[in-house]
Amino acid sequence: MKISLTQHMPNKIIISLCCLFLLGCSESGSNAQSSSAPSPPILASEAKPLPAELEEGEATFNTFCSRCHGPQGRGTNNGPPLVHKIYEPNHHADMAFQQAAARGVRAHHWKFGNMPKIEGVKPEDVTKIIGYIRWLQRQAGIF
Ligand code: HEC
Repeated sequence: MKISLTQHMPNKIIISLCCLFLLGCSESGSNAQSSSAPSPPILASEAKPLPAELEEGEATFNTFCSRCHGPQGRGTNNGPPLVHKIYEPNHHADMAFQQAAARGVRAHHWKFGNMPKIEGVKPEDVTKIIGYIRWLQRQAGIF
């Protein structure tokens, strides 16, 4: 349903609606299902080599995101794994990644605290990061 909405409405409105919707959803959804005991991260298989076109995404991720989200998005003591089913595309669309980098994230799924806005990362960098994370998620069988 989110997918068809995004195809038929003007971008700006969609983006803000989507965000509100995602936030609302994730809060009510997680309370019902998993907030007290988040499921363990699903790790990406290391067997398959990273496609060359995603290397830049990996490097950019390592520069801006891995200090909290961990090598290969596995999470650290400072932030959650992004290779996790709550961050699959239907629950956290690509726009959620752009918003997270541009504005930061108010803590709502985890107990790591807020994510700060990330200085110096451009939207096109985040697009590359998303490509890399989606690939890791697919390797882990998340979608
Ligand atoms: C200083 C630590 C830190 C850094 C650096 C960081 N994050 Fe986060 N990020 C977090 C924390 C903590 C959360 C979890 C907030 C919560 O409780 O839901 C989070 C959540 C997210 C989410 C989920 C957003 C949502 O709507 O729930 C995305 C997507 C994300 N980060 C992407 C990124 C990307 C992309 C980068 C690099 C450009 C990055 N993060 C860098 C700490 C960080």
